[in-house]
Amino acid sequence: MKQKNLVLTFVLAIAVLPLFASNPSDKALSTKAVELVFPELPYAYNALEPTIDAKTMEIHYSKHHKAYYNNFLAAIKETPAANLDLKSIFAEISKQPIAVRNNGGGYYNHNLFWENMTAAKTAPSASLKAAIEKDFGSFDKFKEEFSGAAKKQFGSGWAWLVLGKDGKLFVSSTPNQDNPLMDVVEKKGTPLLALDVWEHAYYLKYQNLRADYVDNFWNIVNWDVVSKRFENK
Ligand SMILES: [Fe+2]
Repeated sequence: MKQKNLVLTFVLAIAVLPLFASNPSDKALSTKAVELVFPELPYAYNALEPTIDAKTMEIHYSKHHKAYYNNFLAAIKETPAANLDLKSIFAEISKQPIAVRNNGGGYYNHNLFWENMTAAKTAPSASLKAAIEKDFGSFDKFKEEFSGAAKKQFGSGWAWLVLGKDGKLFVSSTPNQDNPLMDVVEKKGTPLLALDVWEHAYYLKYQNLRADYVDNFWNIVNWDVVSKRFENK
């Protein structure tokens, strides 16, 4: 009997473990700036076609994202903040040079973005779905608000689904490479879902039609990852 319980506990632990395992982007937040690594793209360049074409993905990841990473390390390595973790740096980003803010944000935001997309069909967990319905009225209203924020962000920036410190979900957008972990943004919290609306994210395929890119984004959201970010908070 005891052995049976032990086996049952083990099986349950294996089943539940993935829910609590950290995403690489979580790990990045608690890593010293000088020790940060450039993450692997979690899929092939063509994996998200037709929503995101392979050429855009290749340039976005291997040129833009890599440049943010390289420039961030170059900007921070000779400063006292080099030994701080990324979360602490973001929490006082207003004290940092603009190169640290732009490139640190650019490095981290893209980590989040790659992770929260997939070609697989996924759905929000029951608890995330319930929280979205509670805080936005319905899932469709949430999508409408998020899409609106992404489409209306003037110039380059990001749209976010964020978990606030009060436990409520909200949608926001930020300019450039700012994110909700930074002390410079008005609405702060934990980012759960990120959408890059810089032209470099969509212009090759969509040209000026950002709205089409935003509408198609819903086909490739990785709700497993977004749910895990929510459950882990
Ligand atoms: Fe980007």
